[in-house]
Amino acid sequence: MDIPTVNSFREFVRSLPKAELHLHLEGSVEPETIHEIDPSLTLEEIDAQYRYDGFAGFLKAYVWVSRKLTTPDAYSLATRRLLERLARQNVLYAEITISVGVVLWKEQDFHSIFEAVRAAADEQSAVQTHWIFDAVRQFGAAAAKPVFDLAREYRNRGVVAIGIGGDEARGPARWFEALYGEAKSAGLRLTCHAGEIAGAESVWDALAIGSERIGHGIHAIDDPNLLAELRKHGVPLEVCPSSNICTAAVPCLEAHPLRRLWDAGVPLVLGTDDPALFQTSVLREYLLAAQKFGFSEDELRKLAENSLRYRFAA
Ligand code: ADE
Ligand code: ZN
Repeated sequence: MDIPTVNSFREFVRSLPKAELHLHLEGSVEPETIHEIDPSLTLEEIDAQYRYDGFAGFLKAYVWVSRKLTTPDAYSLATRRLLERLARQNVLYAEITISVGVVLWKEQDFHSIFEAVRAAADEQSAVQTHWIFDAVRQFGAAAAKPVFDLAREYRNRGVVAIGIGGDEARGPARWFEALYGEAKSAGLRLTCHAGEIAGAESVWDALAIGSERIGHGIHAIDDPNLLAELRKHGVPLEVCPSSNICTAAVPCLEAHPLRRLWDAGVPLVLGTDDPALFQTSVLREYLLAAQKFGFSEDELRKLAENSLRYRFAA
């Protein structure tokens, strides 16, 4: 009797209408897709690049995968494969973050890459896709400026928001305050990785520059005033439990604050962040919420509703 029960619970989660709001294109590229892009590498050689220790090791793996995306066709294939997986999980809406900062660092032509990924997204009618352009915090504001300029240029042509990622300890949010202000004036929505590796003060900084959602934000749990602020202003945390274990942002699932944040009434959405690098999926994050954090069917339904409610585009 066990197996049908497990399968029917999985099907309950799968069939919930869901959005994925915290998802990096580059971190979604499965080893098999890298192999399609570069058949000169064996799957074993590729798999080895997906093994790392801690946050610094993760960032290196992320850069390795990003560097394998050498052409617009490679970006297009990555997008196609990702959206196929999302469609199978009944993800109806996705805001996919693309590391524009990394594309520019690689000195690639961003325009042809963005045309390619947008065309790939248009082919997948089951998932409504929008894009978030992401700059690299530790590269600084001068390097971020062209990323924000591109986001303004492509607003209404697929781009809904801007964000900053990378190493929050080496790139404080206040460096980007003016850029966030300009982006907001241009009608872009604002998100920001914060409180993932650094503490609650990093989330306060993200709020101070106008962030409307927080990527991770898990260390907000240490600051009751911050929890109250997030509640009061309805600022959701995009919580990605598997990511937080893999990057050692928290030591183990038992120590993860997902349940405590939920019980504190903070708006939450679940995300996968970098599903290929963290060997996860949207489904798996919901199943973890149920099995490791005691979320009931009703609470899972609310999480799914939140994912659609806190989307940036209509
Ligand atoms: N870019 C991709 N994944 C990230 C993460 N978990 N933290 C910061 N930047 C990222
Ligand atoms: Zn992220």
